Order: sequence, then structure tokens, then C-alpha cells
Amino acid sequence: MTTAESSTPSSWTPSSWKSRETKQQPTYLDPPEAERALKQLSQLPPLVTSWEIESLKGQLAEASEGRRFLLQGGDCAEVFSDCSSSIIANKLKILLQMSLVLIHGGRKPVIRVGRFAGQYAKPRSEDMETRGDITLPSYRGDLINGVEFTEAVRRHDPERLIRGYSRAALTLNFIRSLVDGGFADLHHPEYWDLDFLQHSPRSEEYQAMVEGIGDSLRFMETLAGRQVGEIDRVDFFSSHEGLHLLYEEAQTRRVPHREGWYNLSAHMPWIGMRTADLDGAHVEYFRGIENPIGIKIGPSTSADRLLELIERLDPDNEPGRLTLIHRFGVDQVATCLPPLLRAVKVARRKVVWCCDPMHGNTLRTDGGLKTRRFDHILSELEQAFDLHGAAGTHLGGVHIELTGDDVTECTGGARDLKDDELERSYKTFVDPRLNYEQALELALRVAKRIRNPKV
Ligand code: PEP
Ligand code: CO
Repeated sequence: MTTAESSTPSSWTPSSWKSRETKQQPTYLDPPEAERALKQLSQLPPLVTSWEIESLKGQLAEASEGRRFLLQGGDCAEVFSDCSSSIIANKLKILLQMSLVLIHGGRKPVIRVGRFAGQYAKPRSEDMETRGDITLPSYRGDLINGVEFTEAVRRHDPERLIRGYSRAALTLNFIRSLVDGGFADLHHPEYWDLDFLQHSPRSEEYQAMVEGIGDSLRFMETLAGRQVGEIDRVDFFSSHEGLHLLYEEAQTRRVPHREGWYNLSAHMPWIGMRTADLDGAHVEYFRGIENPIGIKIGPSTSADRLLELIERLDPDNEPGRLTLIHRFGVDQVATCLPPLLRAVKVARRKVVWCCDPMHGNTLRTDGGLKTRRFDHILSELEQAFDLHGAAGTHLGGVHIELTGDDVTECTGGARDLKDDELERSYKTFVDPRLNYEQALELALRVAKRIRNPKV
């Protein structure tokens, strides 16, 4: 038996998912063309390494015990044309600012996981889209096809697999350089100032906090006579929905000196809600990889089904392996979450509970735009803190769709954005994201709850 086989579940291979029911996969009309792209993808170097993946798993293990807090955030769908310096840097800035607020208010180390460097494939409720008398395949994310409504662009194009991989690599390369170059140094939070923040209603609260942190750091360093460890360089991890299984399989590798198979396209892939069937292809694929993984759970997930999923995906009850990302919506979280918390607690399962207050709260304006209300998002999160508190479990993280830019996609927030203002800067092709200001406001509120879940 090789070392890789010894930790791999029986009968699993990187392609064993193919014998299961597959959902939400592209249709490539020219199979040899797809084969060529996948072969190339399988020979390109990995995007992340197994030691980074294991380090994240170790940190998530601490989050499962309430000793760290997970901040997972980024776009609903990255698009290739947004692979640019300012958009990536702004996303990093808002995540850094949010994490600073969470550390300061929550008094806990924060794990930063971006929905970036590979968040290019989207599940859709309809395979086809009709406009007038033309029907074409739905947009499924830049990894599969393009948004423009023409036959050529909506074709499922395997060449996009290589472009997606390359964009993910460019994004990660830039993030790593920024982090290594001191951009993420907690001594210099002014590096992360977003130009527009100074006009924000929350700006003063944030600036006062930043100054307070600077003073504390200088005080501690004077006292210790040296720099405080882990402050000048913070880690970012990458995550995306592991939806396109051929893409994920092509980057699933063995690594020297470790057992098992790693998905080396991201540190933490997750299973989306539409593909979380116990016997489906996605759960089959995910059960065999060593990465920490997420799974989205919603109102239709019963306690029994959740325990079966946990058993299938994490039979060894390995701390840090599994993050349960719950997304019920503001009206359903209070009824849906408690039975699941109880069942998982009674079964003594070591999971990270993470609240996604975005995906159960999507609405349409009268004008037909997809939006979300800030007060709904905040309320689902606040309720989640209360419900975890009542159940004696830890809310270990939040999962947010956001951008570091000044978009107008979600209503409400300190500036009380209204429905009829959304068109000013509505940029998303899929789900509405919090803008930098709404994201920061959410972090300020969450920080208070981490420290004192009963506030
Ligand atoms: C998403 O995270 O963008 C998404 C599609 O979520 P869910 O699977 O929870 O619907
Ligand atoms: Co989304």
C-alpha cells in the first residue's frame, strides 16, 4: 500500500465522483478539446501547498473550539476582467480592515479566507436563458462561459479552464507579494485605507480604533523590547465553491511526505447548497480530499441528513476538517438552526459553525434587480449569535459576499441606501454584495458580539 492510499477512504479515487449523479456541470460539445485542456491543467503547477492547507486546518480546529474566528469573504462570482491590481488590493484592504475590527472587538485571532483566486463557477437554477425569441445556455461563471448574450460567448468553452487557473494564479501571486511586502503589517493599517472611507459615516469609529491599536502595539513593543510576533505578516487563505468537478479533479494531487490527496487549487473548497446531496458526485469527490472543506446548509437540511453528511465527509471527526456554513434567511434561522446545533453537539462532532447571512436573504426590487437588505443580513447574524449562545455552541465564523469597491447592490446600512439608488453602481452579474462601507459596519457589529455574545 502506498502512503497516499493509507489515508484515503476505500473505493475513492479523484474521479470516483463520475459514477454518481452529477449536477451543475458544463456540457462540452467537443470532448477532445475538453480533454486537451484538462490534461494541460493537470500538468500545471499547484496554486497552493499542502503545508498551507494543513496550517489552515489547524487554525480552523481552534475556531471549532471558540479560540479563533473565521472571516470568509469576497465576491459571489469573480470575473476574469476584475483580475486587476486595484480590485484585488481593495478586496484585501476591506478584509484586512474587517479582520482588524474583529480582532480588536472580539479579542480573538481571526482566520482570513478569501472567496477569491478561483471563485469562477456558479450554480444556476435554470440551464437555459430566454430573451425574446432567443434561448441560450445560462451564464455559469467565467470558468465555463461568458455573460454576453451571444451564442459564441455562452458556449461552454474548455479553454476557459486554463484562463481561470491562470487568473487564479495571478491573483494569488499578487496577494502573496503584497503580504510578503508588508502590506498586511498590523503596524501600518493606514496602508489599507480605502479612499472613499473617509466620507463614510463609520469612518470616525474605525479611525479611533486604529489609533488605539497603534498605541497598544507601541506600548507592548516598548515593554517587550522587540516586535510582537505574528503582527507584521498575516496570512490569507483562498477558497471557492468546488463546483466544476473536472477542474477540481485536474488539480487534485498527491504530495511528497504526506498521506492522501490534496486539492491544490485552493486551501478550502466548499460544497454549495445545490450540490450537497449525500449520494451525489460532489460529496463523493470531497470525501476523499485532505483539505479543510465547507458545506452549505439550508432550510431543507434535516438533523439526520446533516449527521449523515458529516459522517460521510469527516468519518474520523478530525478537528478543522469540516465547516458548516448555515444560510437560512432572516425568517427561518430561528426555527432551522437549533435542531441542527443540538444534533451535532449530542453527536460530539468537532465542526466549525459559520453563518452565511447572505444567501437566504436575496430579494428582488420592483425594478427586477437582485438585492439584499442590510438589516436582514445583520439580523440573521445576530440571531445566529443568540441561538448558538442558547445551545452552548460557538459561532466560529461568518461568510460574507462583499467587495472593497463602492458598489450599490445591497440596500440599507449607515447611509441607508434605497432601492431606487441601486442602479448608480450595480456591478454584480450574480448575487448582490456588501460594499466596503456596509462590510465594515457589519464587522463593527459582529466584533461586539464575538466578545460578548449576549450584547
Ligand atoms: C454562493 O455562495 O455564492 C452560493 C451560490 O451559495 P449557496 O450554495 O449557499 O446557495
Ligand atoms: Co452568491
